[in-house]
Amino acid sequence: MSGAEIDREWRRRAAELVGSLRRKGRLSDERLAAAFAEVPRHLFVPEFLRLEVDASGFAAVDGVVDGTSPEYLDTVYSDQALMTQTKPVRGQPESYVWSSSSSMPSVMADMIEELELAPGMRVLESGTGTGYNAAILCRLLGDAAVTTVEIDPDLLRSAVERLAALGFQPSTKPVPGSYDRILSTHAVDDVPAEWIAWARPGAVILTDLRPPSNTQIGAWVKLVIEADGNCASGRLMTPRGYFMSARKVPEYADDGQRQPELTLEEHQRRAESMMTRGSALAPEVFDDEAFGLYFWRCRPGVWFWRHDREVTLTADDGAWAQAGPDGVRMLGRDLWSEVEEVFADWQRAGAPPITEWIVRVAADGHLAIELPR
Ligand SMILES: C[S@@+](CC[C@H](N)C(=O)[O-])C[C@H]1O[C@@H](n2cnc3c(N)ncnc32)[C@H](O)[C@@H]1O
Repeated sequence: MSGAEIDREWRRRAAELVGSLRRKGRLSDERLAAAFAEVPRHLFVPEFLRLEVDASGFAAVDGVVDGTSPEYLDTVYSDQALMTQTKPVRGQPESYVWSSSSSMPSVMADMIEELELAPGMRVLESGTGTGYNAAILCRLLGDAAVTTVEIDPDLLRSAVERLAALGFQPSTKPVPGSYDRILSTHAVDDVPAEWIAWARPGAVILTDLRPPSNTQIGAWVKLVIEADGNCASGRLMTPRGYFMSARKVPEYADDGQRQPELTLEEHQRRAESMMTRGSALAPEVFDDEAFGLYFWRCRPGVWFWRHDREVTLTADDGAWAQAGPDGVRMLGRDLWSEVEEVFADWQRAGAPPITEWIVRVAADGHLAIELPR
């Protein structure tokens, strides 16, 4: 498709996208609908990565789609996330993981509506990416009300140029104590302390909370900054979409799991010290996503994954456990007993749904969960 054809066509496609978001019940605010109809997504996503998903659900990059590809404009104005960048996982130079995208329009709309933005409010977005969401916010509130931050300086530079080409000049330099609303288009595993410092008392923060690179377990969290401006409290919401995890540095998509480097002798010693025991608690306990989320908040240093009829756990100190139908095998500290402890606490509280949990965030961003009792 030529540039002239795209110029003629995009408004009709943008209007169709708005119609589809409305029909899905993900967009009801008229001003937001006008912003989606008027901001050209294709200018923020001049190209994206085509994904091929194999039978086991694993997605690999299968080329780049740009304005010359027949599917380009239809895809750009559809309710899809468009992957725009991959980066390796730290310590695994061959691995490539999504590190930036233009988020799904329905999820963007949902998040913005949930924040009940009103004229006069100042909003900060974390995760500028392509700049498309920032452009929607600028169209909605005026660019003087919008600040957007991005960990990757190359992405930020391109986004700022694209925004400027449409006449939007949001700030990229947050001012402490200034914002009425903060939203992130990346997931976090704790609330960044800067967000608490940047927000005003009474401000609302909305973000996706999940363990790094985990698409199974997570929740949206909506927080209100307390009157003293130093901490926040709020509630979890069932996630209405998930986001890629926050990066710690621009060079890597994911920090990877830090395991101690073990010598051959240490491996040998550990294999000989493998312990086994029985447990009344079955691995299926982790099929309850709410329990998985609670366990993660109680033991953030323990990684776990369910597979076949087992669950495997590992910790930064090298402890390892596998629980299955025949009992528990373990090395190092007894990680399964930690699951048993958290489960007992979970049951005492009556296994409450995540929407009833109480969330408190300290000034350093640490997020603590209290179960209602
Ligand atoms: C889903 S993409 C952003 C979508 C974007 N809002 C848009 O409309 O194109 C998530 C973005 O968050 C950025 N990001 C990741 N970790 C971050 C962090 N710690 N601080 C700021 N931005 C971060 C990524 O580089 C990526 O560009």
